[in-house]
Amino acid sequence: MLVQLTYASRVSRTLGSTDIKDILRSSQENNKADGVTGALCLSDGIFLQILEGDRTVVNRVYHRILNDARHKDPAILDYREVTARSFSEWSMGLITRSDENRQLFLKYSSTANFDPYSMSGETLSAFFQDILNNVRWLRKTPD
Ligand SMILES: Cc1cc2nc3c(=O)[nH]c(=O)nc-3n(C[C@H](O)[C@H](O)[C@H](O)COP(=O)(O)O)c2cc1C
Repeated sequence: MLVQLTYASRVSRTLGSTDIKDILRSSQENNKADGVTGALCLSDGIFLQILEGDRTVVNRVYHRILNDARHKDPAILDYREVTARSFSEWSMGLITRSDENRQLFLKYSSTANFDPYSMSGETLSAFFQDILNNVRWLRKTPD
């Protein structure tokens, strides 16, 4: 059964580009092997990740990620059964906030900062759909 799990967490310390590259490299390698796809957003010191794939596998990957000391305050924000994947071409796409995509990150926030913790499941879904619609110009690290 296919599911999508969306969670947010906060960076536990200042992460450099090496940390981010390392997270992305292990994510892409492991997720390809596990048949997991999704996207990882980073803005205002907050990670927002959507993981999609087989329910048992997604749950296992999420629990592995939880043990990672590079982030804290994890919270599952949405968990749903889906009929199809949204990110089938991304083993894990990274989208970090930049001047160009600033609007997209703030469009769905009720505050002046990117705050996925306060977003509903529907709002998060609309945010990710917007990312997919705009993927051509978004600064996404290819996988
Ligand atoms: C915000 C964040 C997102 C992550 N996403 C994934 C992921 O999607 N898949 C994954 O396998 N590991 C992910 N990781 C890394 C795992 O926590 C863990 O370091 C990694 O899976 C260990 O695998 P390795 O021993 O092959 O390096 C993530 C870590 C962080 C901090």
